[in-house]
Amino acid sequence: MSVHKIKEHIFEVGAADYDRRLFDELIPLPDGTTYNAYLIIGNKKTALLDTVDPEKKDVLFKNLEYLGIEKIDYVVSHHAEQDHSGAIPDVLKRYPMAKVVTNKKCKGFLQDLLHIEEDRFIIINDGDTLSLGDKTLKFIFTPWVHWPETMASYLVEDKIMFTCDFFGSHYASSNIFVKDEAKVIEDAKRYYAEIMMPFRTQIKKNIEKIEQFDIDIIAPSHGSLWKKPEIIINAYKDWVSDRLENTVLIPYVSMHKSTEAMVYFLLDRLIERGIEVKPYNLTVTDTGKIAMALVDAATVIIAGPQVLAGAHPYLAYVASLTNALRPKTKNIGIMGSYGWGGRMVDQLTGLLSNLKAYMFEPLLIKGHPGADGFEKITKLADEIKAKHKELGLL
Ligand code: FEO
Repeated sequence: MSVHKIKEHIFEVGAADYDRRLFDELIPLPDGTTYNAYLIIGNKKTALLDTVDPEKKDVLFKNLEYLGIEKIDYVVSHHAEQDHSGAIPDVLKRYPMAKVVTNKKCKGFLQDLLHIEEDRFIIINDGDTLSLGDKTLKFIFTPWVHWPETMASYLVEDKIMFTCDFFGSHYASSNIFVKDEAKVIEDAKRYYAEIMMPFRTQIKKNIEKIEQFDIDIIAPSHGSLWKKPEIIINAYKDWVSDRLENTVLIPYVSMHKSTEAMVYFLLDRLIERGIEVKPYNLTVTDTGKIAMALVDAATVIIAGPQVLAGAHPYLAYVASLTNALRPKTKNIGIMGSYGWGGRMVDQLTGLLSNLKAYMFEPLLIKGHPGADGFEKITKLADEIKAKHKELGLL
């Protein structure tokens, strides 16, 4: 049981998963996660806002039992991804009168994913309201945070904005409200970076939409709730803005220390030039850390060796990840070592085709770098400095 009272007749009845360490079989969760579901008891109707991952449905039902809930009229589905929708079929079975309230697009996904029957749906449009008697939900469509059907709802009388993934964080804690602001912001940035960054233009518009409301609490479906909504809203505004950090991200892998020597020489030259460097060894750095650095790094240098005539597979992975996340990075480079030719540059350039960034001349060195190689790296550091100056970062 883990029921949290949010306000009078409003409860969080979802589940924390302290042990989960991977999401989508891709995204590391160093602090676990939560699947927040909210129960709103109006004087006429009761609504459940989202459910939980099917793995945790027993916790949801225990929480509803603890509150003595015998009737649910509406299950509002903000987002069809199964970590929030997966237990809807079980809720509909347990509460046969309940209807799923959602938008048309979300209904389609729910039918594809969960095979919910047609007559269980009530379809709403952007701006529609749903009365629970003395409480009113207003629906706000917020597409692409991070699926096309995503929406939020605003509880008018209590000034609570329920945003589902938007403003969420993979952060499991027994405190329902944010206690350690810096930690939750770090996990929220990690979450934004991993799934929302490609949609920053749409997210900007959604922030503007949300900001029009008088909000006391932002209640996402992952992590802690914000009693100071401006903190998470302002953090998001920064992440989606064009602001860049005077930072070079170097995701790298090195088999026999040649690339490592190049990376650390470049690191020193960049430090001398007043530039922050994040050298992330791909064998020991999790995907989320790289994604977070991509949120605002002005420059990315992918570095590594050629293997069997192509890029080391870890480099192909990081190039593919960077391409998918579409960061606002302005400059990109490829650097590495080779033994006898290969197609690494063509391969990585092809994988980075989504990026609208300046491409430095690729810097490949045969074997371990010597004086000539180090001179070329110094030149690259000068070029990076010049680009950061152009961007007003130095
Ligand atoms: Fe938390 Fe997109 O699901």
